[in-house]
Amino acid sequence: MAKRKLRVGMIGAGGISHLHCEGWTKLPDCELVAITDVNRDAALKRAEEFHIETVEASAKRLAARKDLDVIDIVTPNRLHKEQTLMSLRAGKHVLCEKPLGLNPQEVDQMIAAAGKAKRKLMCAQHMRFEDRSAALKRYVAAGNLGEVYYARAWYNRRRGLPTWGSFLYHDKQGGGCCIDVGVHILDLAMFLMDNFEPVSVSGISVTKLAKRKETWSTWGDADYDKKGMDVEDFAAGMIRFANGAALSLECSFMLNMKGQNDNRVELFGVQAGAKWPDCEIYSHTEHDFLDSSITIRESKTRAHHNEIKAFAEAILGNHPVPVPPEQTRAVMAALAGLYKSQETGREVRL
Ligand SMILES: NC(=O)c1ccc[n+]([C@@H]2O[C@H](COP(=O)([O-])OP(=O)(O)OC[C@H]3O[C@@H](n4cnc5c(N)ncnc54)[C@H](O)[C@@H]3O)[C@@H](O)[C@H]2O)c1
Repeated sequence: MAKRKLRVGMIGAGGISHLHCEGWTKLPDCELVAITDVNRDAALKRAEEFHIETVEASAKRLAARKDLDVIDIVTPNRLHKEQTLMSLRAGKHVLCEKPLGLNPQEVDQMIAAAGKAKRKLMCAQHMRFEDRSAALKRYVAAGNLGEVYYARAWYNRRRGLPTWGSFLYHDKQGGGCCIDVGVHILDLAMFLMDNFEPVSVSGISVTKLAKRKETWSTWGDADYDKKGMDVEDFAAGMIRFANGAALSLECSFMLNMKGQNDNRVELFGVQAGAKWPDCEIYSHTEHDFLDSSITIRESKTRAHHNEIKAFAEAILGNHPVPVPPEQTRAVMAALAGLYKSQETGREVRL
């Protein structure tokens, strides 16, 4: 008898759903059979593009279907917790876009629900699944840097405030650049360091450029809701870890910097240093400096597709998911600490 395929339903048919639909439909052991969106036309469009059998009337109806194994959640941040809990309670495995929850408390509830339902839960941190991330991770995990005691990570855009959907509003998003793009680069940095025990954070989270009369954005409408928007456009902080290591984080939607986008992680170990995405290694001989780089055997697959494949394989093979939600919880705790540090003006113990 032929093996039954994993049957997948998707909640949300907006911008990023396209890459998720591509990812699922590429997998021979999976079928994307249902989709829903409060904007029915958006769901109908995706259904037509990707030959999805059914457009369900609501997320509730989709989650309740008995013939689905997996639900992929690609809706605005504030809906992630409620839709994840509903799907897990209905016995589905859940892949959910970042940030998994708005704060570590929400992630705790989601982890507890996954444990109770005995189902898999994973946050879609696609940057871990880029070929360059995987290559550098292999190199670092083999011990080539020695103890990594410091890292710098940044995800900066010069005029890249996303002005569509819910990105401008705190009540819908849970924050601005910190929770939207800071979450990506912090997750990647902690993954490369293999350090998920943050113990304190000191930082700032501010809105300095986005509300100014003369400011425009290259991401969406140049002319956006400056009065109503209430999320930060810049955040920076220093995170300490239980083993004494530290990480300096910077992220922005808007920053008067050179260039338009700059995303990077630098790792400093006792034997060598390394830089992502370049995959450069900084070492030494007995007398001289020795700089080298990893040349990647490009697989030419997209990170989002790799991430969906890895999640499906974890379900089909009954392995742990490659982005454990406990690691996501640690990332969210550090970001929540950074916000708290802005509020209190102090270093915050986590
Ligand atoms: N990993 C990445 O590269 C990446 C990139 C962009 C966005 N994201 C994340 O993906 C999520 C969605 O972002 P987006 O850019 O696709 O946003 P979007 O605004 O383009 O799409 C969100 C969709 O959700 C729908 N929606 C809203 N409420 C709903 C509900 N109750 N039930 C069903 N559908 C509902 C909206 O109608 C919309 O079509 C966010 O959490 C964002 O952080 C991740």
